[in-house]
Amino acid sequence: MTMTVATRAIATARSAVRASRLRNVFTAQKSQSHALLIRQMSSEAQSMRSEEQSIAARLRSSGLFRSQGLIGGQWIDAYDGRTIKVHNPANGEVIANVPLMSKRETDDAITSAYDAFKSWSKLTAADRSNRLRKWYQLLTTHKEQIGQLITLEQGKPLKESVGEINYGASFLEFFSEEAKRVYGDIISPTIADRRLFVLKQPVGVVGVITPWNFPLAMITRKVAPALACGCTVVIKPSELTPLTALAAAELSLQAGIPPGVVNVVMGDAPAIGDAILASTQVRKITFTGSTAVGKKLMAGAAGTVKRVSLELGGNAPHIVFDDADVDVAVKGVIASKFRNSGQTCVSANRILVQQGIYEKFCNAFSKAAQDLQVGDGFGEGVAQFFQGPLINEAAVQKVEKFLRDAITKGAKVVLGGKRHSLGMTFFEPTVIADVNSDMLLFREEVFGPVAPLLPFRTEEEAIGLANDANAGLAACVYTNNIQRSWRMAEALEYGMVGVNESLIATEVAPFGGIKQSGLGREGSKYGMDDYLELKYVCLGNMDGN
Ligand code: SIN
Repeated sequence: MTMTVATRAIATARSAVRASRLRNVFTAQKSQSHALLIRQMSSEAQSMRSEEQSIAARLRSSGLFRSQGLIGGQWIDAYDGRTIKVHNPANGEVIANVPLMSKRETDDAITSAYDAFKSWSKLTAADRSNRLRKWYQLLTTHKEQIGQLITLEQGKPLKESVGEINYGASFLEFFSEEAKRVYGDIISPTIADRRLFVLKQPVGVVGVITPWNFPLAMITRKVAPALACGCTVVIKPSELTPLTALAAAELSLQAGIPPGVVNVVMGDAPAIGDAILASTQVRKITFTGSTAVGKKLMAGAAGTVKRVSLELGGNAPHIVFDDADVDVAVKGVIASKFRNSGQTCVSANRILVQQGIYEKFCNAFSKAAQDLQVGDGFGEGVAQFFQGPLINEAAVQKVEKFLRDAITKGAKVVLGGKRHSLGMTFFEPTVIADVNSDMLLFREEVFGPVAPLLPFRTEEEAIGLANDANAGLAACVYTNNIQRSWRMAEALEYGMVGVNESLIATEVAPFGGIKQSGLGREGSKYGMDDYLELKYVCLGNMDGN
């Protein structure tokens, strides 16, 4: 990978946005002289160029633009030299070629992690804590550059990318503190001369498989507690967004986390997954991604009886009652629905609105959705609501399929409903009304910027509709009635419930789902449990000398 490619990608992205901005300037100021416009264009282009040069220089000097795998502290190509391309979803350009690794590299990464476990798990908790905190500090120091990497390979707006670095880094900070709070127990014996103890010990090597929608935060949410407990890891990031993972891994080395504790392989996903599943040295697998892949991993883990943590698909209901504050509800649903272009497992997927407020909410919500700006993630770092491209063509085709299905079955497009005029994988923010439970939009996650609205009459009906799903990750309720908010929180079959607030994920609270949305919890003090084994120790004959 060369920085010139990265610089070119940033430059092309920015010039597309620039061009569209300037087109607008041109339309709005037709009467301005041509010469003035040209001067404006060249001075804007000049300042962009120098900004890009400093971005490139910073990335280069910090060594953060890594494009090889990391095994035992060594940056490594695929053993057979094969590579895969990483694309910028906003313009299709190739940003980097990374190794197409497979079973052999994965086995070596597992061996490195296994060897490193022996010493890493023996460090004092305070020592591990200090290194995790250093990693947190380095990520925070480099948040602008790594944020740019996220926008380059994932497409989300730069402001959201930098927000993801803060979010992702917060897990390292939090678990650096939790590292020091792993306590065992002493149990009263049932036989007088015995002493009973419970020890908590790290599970061992962990296989960490992460998705493209949060290229950093889904890694740190798993790796931070794993390392805090004394485990070591083999990370397989999504092949669509490996560069952020590699930059984070580079910083782990700079933070003093010893070689072999953090390993990164990528490429042939099924072969890497199979190698992790087959290894008896890997004691646990943790995965965020689709329910379909999660089920395969769970089945595959049975062969070696590995522990499994799964954070799988959602189908989040957002329930707006007549007594809600409409402004609060609109703001909450917009933020949840259009964050990351609707590509999160907790995105509002079914917006249930009580009849008395349905029309008012629909109008206010559509107006807010209409005000969303769409464009290259580098374009508008400061816009309040801004939507980037979808990750790839398959994602757009899925959105189109769900929309066709809903329209055929009687739903009405209120806003958007088609690809954006910017082309590529940009899609118009879409609002679709009168959705019902026969439609794909109700049954499955659309994972795109489509907001389906459904009317309901009673609280009981809303609970029935909301719980009519195999998924059970996150739900949200908008109401000013405190009793109702509590009744709903208890009745909803979801692992997380927001009341009058949709962006509820934080490092200090347990993130995870019930039903087919997964197993285990990430973040918070509970996030440590998934990486610890309990060991019962009985000391007998304690009355002797
Ligand atoms: C996810 O989409 O799985 C993660 C969303 C979040 O952490 O907010």
